Amino acid sequence: MITEAFPVKERTIPFSPPFVDEDVIAEVLSTLNSGWITTGPKVQQLEEEVILLTGCQAAICTNSWTSAAQLVLKWFGIGPGDEVILPAYTYSATALAIIHSGATPVMVDVNEDFSINIEQIQSAITSKTKAIIPVDFAGWPCDYRSINELLDNQKNKALFSPSNERQRKLGRILCISDAAHSIGSTYFGKPSVLSSDISIFSFHAVKNVTTAEGGCVCLNLPGNFDVQKEYTYLKLCTLNGQTKSAFEKLNGNWKYDIAFAGLKINMPDICAAIGLAQIRKYSSQILIRRKQIAQQYQAAFQNFKWFKSPHLLTEERESSYHLFPLRIDQCAEKQRDSIIQELFSKGISVNVHFIPLPMLTLFRDIGFDIKDFPNAYRHYQCEISLPIYPQLQNTEVSFIIQSVISAVEKSFQDLAINYLHTL
Ligand SMILES: Cc1ncc(COP(=O)(O)O)c(C=O)c1O
Repeated sequence: MITEAFPVKERTIPFSPPFVDEDVIAEVLSTLNSGWITTGPKVQQLEEEVILLTGCQAAICTNSWTSAAQLVLKWFGIGPGDEVILPAYTYSATALAIIHSGATPVMVDVNEDFSINIEQIQSAITSKTKAIIPVDFAGWPCDYRSINELLDNQKNKALFSPSNERQRKLGRILCISDAAHSIGSTYFGKPSVLSSDISIFSFHAVKNVTTAEGGCVCLNLPGNFDVQKEYTYLKLCTLNGQTKSAFEKLNGNWKYDIAFAGLKINMPDICAAIGLAQIRKYSSQILIRRKQIAQQYQAAFQNFKWFKSPHLLTEERESSYHLFPLRIDQCAEKQRDSIIQELFSKGISVNVHFIPLPMLTLFRDIGFDIKDFPNAYRHYQCEISLPIYPQLQNTEVSFIIQSVISAVEKSFQDLAINYLHTL
């Protein structure tokens, strides 16, 4: 247990500041000085680093996870009349990408470990189902073996009704992993992106690797796909369907064509530079420190009855330690909120991941009801995400631990007093 004192009043502990060291600054500066700041060599290098880290067939960087998901849904020809299955416990972008494609989001509940419930996926599959988007919540990979078995089973394959060449080639429901949190996660000893057809990382500012805003599509398509062809389509589609990027048009190579109606969602080099410097030291430094902090939290809380540990490491799966989603047993929403307030009053920024989608106006208005997703609500009401990032000092971790313990204990005491008062 770490015992150094943390000077409470002198500073606050942010929730998830970006990792910016001298290498990040040098990479950004070199980009600025290079005379080329939009999509070009840095994006290409970042894509190469993603392939190196994950072993995926090809990587395509975009300006966000959300736009990357829209890109993938467009690539598979998903639109009005189609259905896409997703968990109710995720960030709104997972559902918004589906809505923007014109397809219908079909939500299902999650398991104790926050991952999408397999039986409920099966019940939700219809002849209109074109894709499923499991979410690796907090960096914890979903049960992809069961998901893939389900998508490959004859009954579900027979139900699948393809409406274009790519859908015919796949011959079944597409599995798009929402890997916004899970760069660096492993599943059965391999990078978890190798467990679904397509995975999408988010490089948003709070993520384990960031480009300020950004995303990355990782391909892991079955053997009958021509990966180079699909990569070329997806890459062009990030840039209006233009056959040459501005960088490729340099040096007199100016003629181009617009091959199809693409999107405009390319990542600029100035953003890629940040992620590039980070990803180079991700496995050897950044991820290791995240894991240490998660282990410090776990060791400190494990003897408390109220502590429900997040799933972080088993023989089959390892998290990317993107979040430390603390859950407090027997804790209702109001009590959770009071604990958060107590932590904020001590200068500790925490967060709640997530407000389940059916509790948000948009999705309520569409007709979703949180009563149909009891596990999602159960997780939400007692969840507090604690700070976890490489810059966090041991003294700060220690201070967070002590503050959480005293805030939780106080909240239970307050509750007991309130109960007495109401007797
Ligand atoms: C689970 C999940 N999916 C998707 C997204 C969207 O990512 P982006 O902000 O890069 O579009 C987020 C962002 O926080 C997320 O947490």
